[in-house]
Amino acid sequence: MVAIREMMMRLVFFLAISLAGIHVICSFTDPGDSAALYALRGLWQNTPPSWAKDDPCGAPWDGVTCDNSRVTALGLSSMNIKGSLSGDIGGLTELRSLVLSFNQDLTGSLTPQLGDLSKLNTLILQGCGFTGNIPDELGKLSQLTFLALNNNKFTGSIPASLGNLSQLSWLDLAENQLTGPIPLSANNTFGLDLLVNAKHFHFNKNQLSGPILDELFSAKMNLIHVLFDSNQFEGSIPSTLGLVRTLEAL
Ligand SMILES: *[C@@H]1O[C@H](CO)[C@@H](O)[C@H](O)[C@H]1NC(C)=O
Ligand SMILES: *[C@@H]1O[C@H](CO)[C@@H](O)[C@H](O)[C@H]1NC(C)=O
Repeated sequence: MVAIREMMMRLVFFLAISLAGIHVICSFTDPGDSAALYALRGLWQNTPPSWAKDDPCGAPWDGVTCDNSRVTALGLSSMNIKGSLSGDIGGLTELRSLVLSFNQDLTGSLTPQLGDLSKLNTLILQGCGFTGNIPDELGKLSQLTFLALNNNKFTGSIPASLGNLSQLSWLDLAENQLTGPIPLSANNTFGLDLLVNAKHFHFNKNQLSGPILDELFSAKMNLIHVLFDSNQFEGSIPSTLGLVRTLEAL
């Protein structure tokens, strides 16, 4: 009787140990993803306390979502994160969603390496302190459906490459210091007239200029909200706007 009970105890103990072992193996973060997050942790102040641990997917770190040891989402809104967004972010190659909104002390320019996040469908950086140009490389994010860069300090023109984002539903560039015209697709370049799946075009509160050309709008478009106010546009309102049957607010 005693021997059987001891054997059972050993079996339970053995099972517990092996299950614990399996658990550790499953939660081990991909080394490339860990390296990218360690680098960002080194650059950022005010990351959550859980970021002090070693294994971003295992623990897991606040704001980090993983699937099969790969980091698929990074979300740290309104956390007072202070620092810059370095090229290390490009190492998170399975990332679907990057949301760092409302961290005013997240500053510096946007790294071109954001264009390496080929699976990204959501990029929300609104209400931060980013400066410099919007990188052309964002035009490589072929899965992107939601792009919100509003309420930063971006300068320069709107990259024509954004017209390459054929899945894009939401484009918000409002409340920056962007200049120049809205790019059109003439002459074998991309242009925002190609964004036929877009429902939101928010360009208000910038320093955009020039005429808003008829070619921007067509019957193929699905726009609901188009915001152009508080810019330096000139000329007449494009008659082609009337072709956009989905439009609700202008
Ligand atoms: C357009 O998107 C494709 C991927 O869909 C990419 O290979 C290409 O570099 C992009 N072009 C520009 C100008 O961004
Ligand atoms: C397209 O090319 C023609 C001829 O090179 C030029 O006159 C025109 O301004 C160009 N259009 C745009 C939108 O760049």
